[in-house]
Amino acid sequence: MKKICTVVGARPQFIKLAVVSRVLRGEFREVLVHTGQHYDHNMSDVFFEEMNIPKPDYNLGVSGGTHGQMTGQMLMKIEEVLLKEQPDMLLLFGDTNSTLAGALAAVKLHIPVCHVEAGNRLGTLANPEEANRIVTDHVSSLRLACTASGMEFLRREGLESGSFLVGDPMYDAFRYYSERLDGSELSELRDFAGEPLALPERFYYMTCHRQENTDTDEKLDQIFQAMEALDAPAVYPVHPRNRHRAERLVREGGYRHILLCRPVGYQCSISLVNRAEKIVTDSGGLQREAFFAGKPCVTVFDYIVWPETMENGCNRLAKPVKTDILEKLSAPVFFDPSYRPFGDGHSAEKILERIKERLP
Ligand code: UD1
Ligand code: UDP
Repeated sequence: MKKICTVVGARPQFIKLAVVSRVLRGEFREVLVHTGQHYDHNMSDVFFEEMNIPKPDYNLGVSGGTHGQMTGQMLMKIEEVLLKEQPDMLLLFGDTNSTLAGALAAVKLHIPVCHVEAGNRLGTLANPEEANRIVTDHVSSLRLACTASGMEFLRREGLESGSFLVGDPMYDAFRYYSERLDGSELSELRDFAGEPLALPERFYYMTCHRQENTDTDEKLDQIFQAMEALDAPAVYPVHPRNRHRAERLVREGGYRHILLCRPVGYQCSISLVNRAEKIVTDSGGLQREAFFAGKPCVTVFDYIVWPETMENGCNRLAKPVKTDILEKLSAPVFFDPSYRPFGDGHSAEKILERIKERLP
């Protein structure tokens, strides 16, 4: 059996890994490397447990610090693993610092790189993940795009050869797990004191964790002011990056309709998506899940990340300004059920086929 080394490190990568690893392990020996980028129980272990992801063969224990410190330490440690394991291919997902470190380590050792979620572009290096996307795509020999727009960005950069449209493994996961929800997953909702959080009958689902929105008080507070003004409370599982800022701003602002809670597992999160009135987020994953579920979404961000979700106003960009968020939330939306730009829910199988072509 040929050997594939997969490198993951962050929450959205565990979700993609869950569906891809399941099919990959039928035909390849997978060596799983967790960089350690996300490490809290409810940012990491919870996904491995609830999605039956095999235990990583290596956990490199690298997290925090500056982008350079994190990426540099990961690069050194991934290189050691690759030298020892000598895999036939390195498999990567998305655009985190774990992705970049894996790509750089492998290309220098002449190990072919396969990049899933290739071709996403925001068009600005002001976004810290953009450099990760560009570098990873340019050193990969197999680029697998989720959508037609991803393929188009790859073509514009001269990367047509070796690039294939496979659909979105996040859509595979959403379809697979949505069928298995029974409401019990919501019991996971806890406030920061660990007390169960009663889900209101009507609510908005909010997540906000991007560096661009959460590294100062002003933007996050504007988002809170918008959520506070809505006709139902907002349920907000907070990423550890901005937990303390969020707690302080809610306390100082006296906001009563923003229900802060600990990060939740995947099934609880998609259950919230399915039950929410609307979604307000800056997450790349959550804006797609809103689209999959047919829920209107407002993405608080300056750049379009997933153009396909913006059709017919299903997902709208808003500035981190109260009035803009409220205006975009009240704008009309039309979901066309025949428009399925993220594939057929079997992208994992398509990913496997493309890898098999490369590693016969
Ligand atoms: C990273 C990705 C981002 C992705 C997000 C998914 C990069 C550059 N960014 O951002 O693209 O959207 O993951 O969630 O890779 N922390 C904890 N506990 C944890 C995880 C993080 O306390 O379990 C802390 C870290 O110590 C750090 C901060 O949160 O201080 C930010 O974490 P980091 O991994 O640097 O970036 P994310 O914001 O998670
Ligand atoms: N998610 C989760 N628990 C939470 C918040 C989000 O499981 O408390 C899920 C969400 O449903 C989506 C994924 O995490 O599947 C998105 O990850 P994140 O927003 O951290 O990263 P991004 O997609 O922006 O890179």
